[in-house]
Amino acid sequence: MTKNKNHEELSELKRVLIIGSGGRENSIAWALSKNNSIEQIYVCPGNGGTANFEKCFSLKPKSEDEKTIIFECQRLKIDLVIIGPEVPLADGLANKMREAGLTVFGPCRDGALLEASKEWAKALMIENNIPTARYWSTGSEEKALEILQRFNQPLVIKADGLAAGKGVTVCETIEQSKEAIKEVFSGKFGCAANKIILEEKIEGPEVSIFALCDGEKLIVLPPAQDHKRLLEGDKGPNTGGMGAYAPALLINEKDLKDLTELVLIPTLNGLKRKKINYIGVIYAGLMLTSSGPKVIEFNCRFGDPECQALMPLMGEEFASVLFACARGELEKAPKLSFASSCSACIVATSKGYPESPKKGDKININVESNSSLQVFHAGTTIDESENIITSGGRVLSVVAQGESFDEAFDLAYSNLKKINFDGMYFRRDIGYQVRDN
Ligand code: AMP
Ligand code: GLY
Repeated sequence: MTKNKNHEELSELKRVLIIGSGGRENSIAWALSKNNSIEQIYVCPGNGGTANFEKCFSLKPKSEDEKTIIFECQRLKIDLVIIGPEVPLADGLANKMREAGLTVFGPCRDGALLEASKEWAKALMIENNIPTARYWSTGSEEKALEILQRFNQPLVIKADGLAAGKGVTVCETIEQSKEAIKEVFSGKFGCAANKIILEEKIEGPEVSIFALCDGEKLIVLPPAQDHKRLLEGDKGPNTGGMGAYAPALLINEKDLKDLTELVLIPTLNGLKRKKINYIGVIYAGLMLTSSGPKVIEFNCRFGDPECQALMPLMGEEFASVLFACARGELEKAPKLSFASSCSACIVATSKGYPESPKKGDKININVESNSSLQVFHAGTTIDESENIITSGGRVLSVVAQGESFDEAFDLAYSNLKKINFDGMYFRRDIGYQVRDN
């Protein structure tokens, strides 16, 4: 097939629907809106900032059950559905949508196990020689305590299933590991607690790498670095992510190529051997240890807030690439280009995040998004008087691009000052790894 014909087919992409309500989905919508052939982008349910971008709309069906959403996709003649968060992926929304004839970017239920079961993901890594920390898994508290006693060192304790980023405890002492085991089996993480992973503690800087997959082939995005801890200096509790930057300088182009061979391709091949047609993002969270890179987690979707830092770097072809992946035809996609700039993302959270975020505060935003500065909403909504108010823990992120990270972070931080709400909090040291000032 000729190149032009391929591009013609991919330009059939006119209407997109994105499932989710976070900053990740807001930034994907913004990136897609740059594609001239796309006419409408619906975000379901979206947030208070969805409609700020050209061609973007919030879609709030009466009910959020699968049938209603599939009906809405058909009614709106959606050409491509992108599923943002892990929960609907793990619940099999992509399976149901494909059965209904929709074209979907996001793995089916079995592929989503990569994130939804740490034990399953660990087994896949071992089967495919993907480097990872040593581990033990069990469904019994007694056995877990026995393993800990036998190993006689503090271990990292992980609940097996999805736990909104809260199911991992990195322990300094054996006593802490014991407490963490008991906590998992006390039911704190709901059904995430049926099984437990005890993992050897490893050390080193962390970096995230991403592949867009069409079931057979993949392309790799620039690496990014997240900041998971709540407080400056990487202290305090783990959060969903307080900021990010891309491209991460910890790994160069050659390293990324090597990591593609070492981690991403074997993962996709391992999925294929299990007869899983994996369409979507493979996100590998890595730790660069003194004995080489090791995978500490897989996610089956874009990271949040890494996605917000990455989206402004995507070329206009991004929409066609996702569409081609969803159709299993990555070879037909135009080459995805990336801006050579540095991108910085800072997340602003509400008071009480992550334990008990306060909601309902009015947000004042005196910043307009443009090609080098974006405000991506997450936990925001619009009240009856058209005020933007807080509705979640991670409220919004300010993202900026520059020729250097100093320039990008200066622009992001100076514009963050033009936003305020009661109890607003953000880390002032995001990107400390790559900033001089
Ligand atoms: P996860 O939810 O699996 O990404 O884990 C959350 C955080 O816990 C990671 O970003 C790491 O900082 C830390 N972590 C996870 N596994 C290990 C490990 N085996 N050794 C040391 N730290 C870990
Ligand atoms: N920022 C980490 C994640 O999305 O899981």
